[in-house]
Amino acid sequence: MKYPIIAYGDPVLRRKATSIEPDEYPHIKELVDNMFDTMYGARGVGLAAPQVGMSMRLFVIDASPFDDEDPDLKGFKKVFINATILEETGEEWSFNEGCLSIPDIREDVSRKPVVRISYYDETWKHHEETFKGMAARVIQHEYDHIEGKLFTDKLSPLRKRLIEKRLNDISKGAVDVDYRMKFPAAKKGR
Ligand code: NI
Repeated sequence: MKYPIIAYGDPVLRRKATSIEPDEYPHIKELVDNMFDTMYGARGVGLAAPQVGMSMRLFVIDASPFDDEDPDLKGFKKVFINATILEETGEEWSFNEGCLSIPDIREDVSRKPVVRISYYDETWKHHEETFKGMAARVIQHEYDHIEGKLFTDKLSPLRKRLIEKRLNDISKGAVDVDYRMKFPAAKKGR
C-alpha cells in the first residue's frame, strides 16, 4: 500500500520525531513495506516516516539507483529505526539534492562525506556502522527529516529567497507531480 507523501509546509515535517519501541509497533514490517512501496512509486531513494505523516524515528533507503556512480551502493536497501548520528567527518562536498516532499526543486547541498550512525533494523537488530560518499549523503538527508530539518534549510539566504515562491506553491498544491501527495495549504476539494 502506498501512502500519500506530505508536501513542504506541513508542520509534521518540522517536528523532531520520537523513538519507537518494538512492542508499540508489532506490525513494523508492514509499515516498512508500505514505505518502500511509497518511495518506489515516487522513484525516490529514501523516505522518512514524517514524510508520510508519522512523526517517528524511522526511515528507509534504497540507494541502488546510484550504483553506477558508486559500486558500494549495489543492493543498498536498508531500514533505519531510532537512528542517532554519532559523528560526521571529512571535508564537505556538494551534491544536487531533491526531496519527495519538495517536488521539482533541486539544489546543491554541502555535507560531510563520512557518517557514523547507530540504528536498529526492521528485525530490531542493533547496528553501529560507518557510511561514506553517496550512502552517507542519503542517510544524512533522511536523518534530517527525523530531526525536523529539510535540505532547503541548508541553502544560502539568497537561494532560499529565489525559491520561496515555488515552495509556497508546493504547499498549496500548485505543482506538477505524478505521485499522490497531501498539500498542507491546498484549498478544499483539491
Ligand atoms: Ni527528503
